[in-house]
Parts: sequence; structure tokens; C-alpha cells
Amino acid sequence: MAKFIDELKRSHRCGDLRIEDVGKEVVLFGWVHKRRDHGDLIFVDLRDRSGLTQVVFDPTRSPEAHKAAEQLRGEWCVGVRGVVRDRGVQKNKAGELVSAHNPKLATGAIEVVVDDAAIFNKSETPPFPIEDNLDTREEIRLEHRYLDLRRAPLQRTLMTRHRINQATRRYLSDQGCLELETPFMVKYTPGGARNFLVPSRVQRGKFFALAESPQLFKQLFMVAGFDRYFQIVKCFRDEDLRLDRQPEFTQIDIEMSFVNQDDIFRLVEGLIFAIWKDALGVDLRELYPSGRFPQMPFAESMRDYGNDKPDLRFAMKHADLTELVIAHDGGGIAPWAEMAAKFKDGTYRRDLPPEIVKALVIPASANLSRADSDKLEDFVKGMGAKGLARAKVGDDGTWTQAPLFKNISPELRAAIHEATGARPGDLLCFQFGKESVVQTVMANLRLHLGKKLGLIPEFGHGNQWNFLWVINPPLFEYDEDRKGWAAAHHAFTRPHDEHVAIIESDPGKVLCYRYDLVLNGFEIGGGSIRLHDPEVQQKVFRALGISDEDAQAKFGFLLQALRFGAPPHGGLALGMDRVAMLLSGAESLRDVIPFPKTQKGTDLMTDAPTVVSPEQLAELAIRTVDLEK
Ligand code: AMO
Repeated sequence: MAKFIDELKRSHRCGDLRIEDVGKEVVLFGWVHKRRDHGDLIFVDLRDRSGLTQVVFDPTRSPEAHKAAEQLRGEWCVGVRGVVRDRGVQKNKAGELVSAHNPKLATGAIEVVVDDAAIFNKSETPPFPIEDNLDTREEIRLEHRYLDLRRAPLQRTLMTRHRINQATRRYLSDQGCLELETPFMVKYTPGGARNFLVPSRVQRGKFFALAESPQLFKQLFMVAGFDRYFQIVKCFRDEDLRLDRQPEFTQIDIEMSFVNQDDIFRLVEGLIFAIWKDALGVDLRELYPSGRFPQMPFAESMRDYGNDKPDLRFAMKHADLTELVIAHDGGGIAPWAEMAAKFKDGTYRRDLPPEIVKALVIPASANLSRADSDKLEDFVKGMGAKGLARAKVGDDGTWTQAPLFKNISPELRAAIHEATGARPGDLLCFQFGKESVVQTVMANLRLHLGKKLGLIPEFGHGNQWNFLWVINPPLFEYDEDRKGWAAAHHAFTRPHDEHVAIIESDPGKVLCYRYDLVLNGFEIGGGSIRLHDPEVQQKVFRALGISDEDAQAKFGFLLQALRFGAPPHGGLALGMDRVAMLLSGAESLRDVIPFPKTQKGTDLMTDAPTVVSPEQLAELAIRTVDLEK
């Protein structure tokens, strides 16, 4: 008998064979997915990454192979040589002859009747079945991730990742971008995300940082004249994890010289179109015939949706009532009157309000019970809100179920109806107080309601791919703790030319060429046009309260490089894992990253991170403290 693997090479994958292949001799390798022993015949579903084939062991055809098949159990790794045949007909329970084809399986019309078989390896009983739908706890699946990865949904997802990577390389290379690499072990620079530190043994007592992104290096590629760059690159950030955040994640990182914001948008739109086509078979031109994605100013996004990544698959806009409340001196509501007074006496700035009032209308058609709306209050409290003030609009326009608003003036009430479009039967929900809290709470409340009221289509239904560029955000944000201005993104973002003059006098008003790409409420990418002009750069540092010496110490190498004829340049990075997550309809990045970290930042399979020996620490001149003490 010819030897499997050395002589008998695989002829097909398990998902390949069709009715046209009947009569062919084939060699398949794979894992025993299911085995059914019918006494005389033994049926095995043989599985590999492409799918399943039914193979049949018939003792009258090959007694040896049949004998081997008697031992087979789930997940044993085997090879078979045999002949493809039509599954033909079989008798149903009533004794009638019906087709034996299985229309649910791509290979369901055929089976392979086995002549030779080899058992490559046995398997212990897996801790969970290798099936598509599992309710096994995620911890157990992550502990045995290599088995979890055998399941078809995860195999499909990783194949989608492969296609995303290939489409990206093809498209960006065609656009003249060079795939260049940058170091992971870099100099620690403050600001931005928190870095993982890597101690140096050779330079004892000193540390590298793991790169949170290739940002500075890709800019240096532009200074070096490479013109267009891309990289599919790992980034490392020591952040608290969420469903859409991992400490180690992948970016599709891009930088280009001699471009403006619109040039970057066009390139990225083309890339997204190519990825959707190649990885999903979806032609986005049907949804975006012009090939362009819509754009929304940052200020509008904050006003209407409370964040800079609005999910536009449903409406339910916020209404910002701050100006109305000021105009009505609080309209008889004590905390609003207090706030309005602060705006009027100049304690608060109108253009950068530290406190705001927002409302959102839940239509009567939602049929929320009193208990439902109490649950909404619990939901917002979980996000740091003090409560959720509500008012039900009565037929005569008065409010019920609204203890907080007993004394509201009829004028303010009417103005709120007009601003929000609330009608009899609707429920108004309010938040007021610190701007950042109100925005976060209202943004999350809107999303929560979108899901609860069924306004967001389920994955695969309605084919809604809602892309949006969020543009023109402020360059600086006010840091209440430090009582000073901080860079909203990073200190190398280019301000709008017409705002350069007010960088130092009125930093809050300066807008910049920074942009985020949003898909269905997720930020899937972000970037900016960079500052390449040393004079403007200095103004920005001054507004940030960074002295020349400080700037030199922190970013010296980049500042110096920019003085050697740096070209105008800009770029963007796509969160590749988030793209893969949304493309596959997954709910967590953990479902699309082959070996992810848990919510607690650990790897359950390898049990990392671990303590290391005192000798290793001594080599690095590191002493640990006992955290228990
Ligand atoms: P930014 O920090 O916006 O920009 O990151 C770009 C994109 O990366 C994704 N992302 C993440 N994905 C998973 N887990 C995380 N912890 C995580 N953090 C970010 C997001 C985000 O939009 N150097 C700049 C890009 C540039 O300016 O060119 C940068 O890193 O989808």
C-alpha cells in the first residue's frame, strides 16, 4: 500500500468535491467530525478548513480500512484514499426510495467510498464539541483556543481576515504605497495611550516602550522621501479592555506625502470598497454610487448624537436644550436656573459650555411601560448619571410622570416640544450637568434604545453598511484637572489655516484636519494631516504649555527631522480587527483575533502574564514589591 503523505498526496480538500467529480480517485486528509456505525457500513464526516465530506467504509470493499474505521472517534486525524460516488437514493421511513443527497452540505451530492485509510493521530475527547453553535463558557474555549479555532465560524472569520489582508496589500500596492516595517521597541513618549514597557538588560535600569502605533516612524518615512507607505502592523496599548479593544491589535497603517484630507479619504474609500468586495463579495457601489462616504462635522455629531462615532442606522437624534434653558432663565426649574445664571454672569463660556442640557424623545409607538422606563433609569445610573429625568407628554401638552418638572413654565415646555418634536404620548428623557457626562450618558442611552426598540437591523438583514467621515474636530481640549489645554489627538495635527492666528489667543476655537471613519457606530479608523511647519508647531506647543526644552526632550528627533525639508503629509490607520469584527457580524474583537486576551488582559491558553524568577529580575535590575502587603 502506498504511504500517505510521502506518496499519497492530498488531491482535494474536504469541501471541494461535487457531483461532477463522481468516478474520480481522491485522497483526503482531515479530522473525524462525526462517525456513524451502521454495523456493515461506517460513515464518517471528514472535516478540514474547507468543509465536510461523507466518507464510507465498506467491509466488502476494503476490510482493512473498515477495521481501522471501527476504532475512529471524534477529532482523530486521518487520511483516506477512495473513489467519489453519487449518494444516489435511499429508503425513507415509509419504505419509499428518495434522494440521499444532502442539500444543506456543499458536498451533499457525493460521498467517498474508501479503499485505504491511515490514522495519523488519535485525539483525547475534546472539552467541548467542535460545533458551530456552542454555549460553552468563553473561558473554556479560550483555554483550548486551538480546538475553538477548529470550529467552522472561527475558521471562516480567520479566512475573512486573510482576504482582508490580501485585498489591502493588492489595493495599496497598486496605489503606489510601499509596505515598509517599523520597530516595535521604541522610545517612551508621554501622551497618547499608556505604553507597555520593556526593560533593557544591556542598558540596565532603562526601558523601551512597545509601540502604540508606528505614528512617528511613518512620518519619518515621509521625511525620508518614500512618498507613500502602508503596513499591516501590530500595535500595543495598555488600556482597560472593552469588547472593541484589545491590548495587542492590528492596524492597516497608511501615510502619504503631498496630499490633503480629501486625497486620503479617496484612497481609504477605495480600500474599503476593495476589502468589502474581496472579503465579503459586497459591492459598496450599490450603496455609495459616487464611491464617496458622507461627512459630518464633529460639532454636529456631538450635538445630535453625543459622541464622535454616531450609528446612523437609526435616527433618534438628541436635542441640545442648553441655549433654550438659558433663554428662559431655567424656566422655573431650580438646577437649570442656577446653570443659566452662570452663563449669564460669564462664569461659563457659551461656546465651550461646561454644563449642558439634552433631551431625547421616545415615541409613543415604543409603548414603554412605567417599569420599562424605570429600567432605563437604572441603565443610565450604571454609566455614572445621577438619574434620568422624564416627562410624558399629555394630550393637552402638559407633562405627567415628571416630578422634577412640576414648576416648569408653559413657555419653556412649549419651546422644548418645538425643539424636540415631541408629541402627545411621547416620553421625553433629559440629562443635564457636566458636559462630558451628559454626552456619554445620552449617547449610550440612544444606542441602548436603538437596540431595545429594534431600530438596528440584525447582521445580514438589510445589508446596512453605514459609513461616515467625522471631520473638523477641535485641535485642543480643555483639561479640567490640569486647568490647561491639551492636544485632543496628538501635538502634530495640522490646524485649519484660517485658525492658525488664534492658536494662542483662543485655542478652544481652533479646528484641525483630523478625521475618523465610522461604521455602524464603531470608529474603524482615524488619522490626520500632520504639522510639517516648524513655526506653527511652536505655536501649538506654546498653547499646550510645552516649553522648547520640553518639546526637545520629548519629540526632539521628530522636530529635528521636520526641519530637513519635510514634505506636507498625512495619513490614517484602520483598526483591522474592528473591520474584521463588523464584516463577520461578530460581537467582540475576541471572536476575530486568533489568540486574544481576556477582559482582564490575560491569555488563558498559555497562562500569560506570569511571574518570572528572581534571577531574571536581578539581570534587569528590577525589584518587585509584594502587592499583598
Ligand atoms: P488611532 O489611535 O485612532 O490612530 O487608532 C486607529 C484605529 O485603530 C483602532 N484601535 C483599536 N482597535 C482595537 N483595540 C484597541 N485597543 C484599539 N485602539 C485603536 C481603531 C482606531 O480608529 N497613529 C494614529 C493613526 C494616524 O493618525 O494615522 C492612530 O493610531 O479602529
